Amino acid sequence: MGPFLRLTSLLSAWPVAVAAFVSPVLAQKGTVEPPGQALYRQACAHCHGWDGTGARAALVALPIQPPDFTDSRFASREPEADWAGIVTLGGPIRGFDRWMPAFGEALKREEIDLILEYVQSFYPDKSWPRGEFNLPLAQATEKAFPEDEVVLRTAVSTGGEGALWNRLTYEKRFGSRNQLEISAPFGWKEVGRGLASASRWEGGVGDLAVGWKRVLWADLGVGSIGSFTLEAVLPTGNETKGFGNGHTVLEPFLTTGQLLEWDAFAQLQTGLELPLGGGGGEKEGFLRLAVGRTFTAGGEWGRAFSPMMEFLGSGELEGGAWKWDLLPQVHFTLNRRQHVMANVGVRLPLIEREGRRPQLVFLVLWDWFDGGLLEGW
Ligand code: HEC
Repeated sequence: MGPFLRLTSLLSAWPVAVAAFVSPVLAQKGTVEPPGQALYRQACAHCHGWDGTGARAALVALPIQPPDFTDSRFASREPEADWAGIVTLGGPIRGFDRWMPAFGEALKREEIDLILEYVQSFYPDKSWPRGEFNLPLAQATEKAFPEDEVVLRTAVSTGGEGALWNRLTYEKRFGSRNQLEISAPFGWKEVGRGLASASRWEGGVGDLAVGWKRVLWADLGVGSIGSFTLEAVLPTGNETKGFGNGHTVLEPFLTTGQLLEWDAFAQLQTGLELPLGGGGGEKEGFLRLAVGRTFTAGGEWGRAFSPMMEFLGSGELEGGAWKWDLLPQVHFTLNRRQHVMANVGVRLPLIEREGRRPQLVFLVLWDWFDGGLLEGW
């Protein structure tokens, strides 16, 4: 019996030996498993799928299809802080469905952050600039972030000859780093003021602009994004009525955005205006700087508003003093989804003020990728 006993003890020792061999491997695997994965699988995978593509709504009896986290175009554009709000307080906080539950009681903030880091790992193409770079839109300084949006800008003169001037802009992203934009100005101007006859208002369209933007860099580690844009302003406006330039102007410019401490930010745009052909018009340069900070009303995920100050300079490249304006303004979100926003400000001539009056300026912005105009209120 002696040898048999030894054999059984050997056999019974076998699982122990296997465990002894395997467990370090498992432990090693355990450290490789991304933090947040286990939590994601427990709390989210039932609806969002193990692979993040979203469980089929019909299979899990959901009335609404969860989004596909593996789609870079979608998943790259939402700032992580916004998603933390949705996970903590539930879908309705951002105007989403209540079937996206609130986890603020079940999970700690650090756990939610870990899960979201894991969720971010689902989308493969990291060349898409992160939504954190989608900074509040200033009145004059253009953003570096490529956008899917529609913007309507309006400027109203205060005193002097009346003017109500608008610019409707449509922007569309192509791939991760390109954006096309078309911009059409239109409005009304008062003519004949101060003359014997009563003044009247004339309406018209201005010079259509077509542009192409390309992101050159976007690095969340240092909080910096930069893009190059080439725009052509076409002489579609009526020159004699003062609605147009009368010639084509090429506008190459650089835009950068810098994220700063305490939700502050700076945006810079600088470029040239180069008239084409011999039809007059001087080469001009411009420099626009917007600095601001975002606050939220009513808790961390409440309505966002961002006071900003813009410094705007432009002038001829060869001689001539530059005009400078100051533009205090506030940018705020209009709906809970935060994809319909507005900005109100006043443009104050600062240097070379002659013939220039302060203007009231407004803009409304709709990020159409994030939902319909009437969604998420
Ligand atoms: C009961 C099912 C369910 C569970 C569990 C669930 N979700 Fe959701 N989630 C949804 C649905 C449905 C939507 C889409 C809501 C909409 O489009 O209105 C959604 C939307 C979201 C969004 C918003 C995406 C956007 O469009 O910007 C995020 C982020 C999200 N879920 C993260 C999570 C995380 C992280 C967890 C786990 C902690 C989780 N969800 C657990 C059902 C669920």
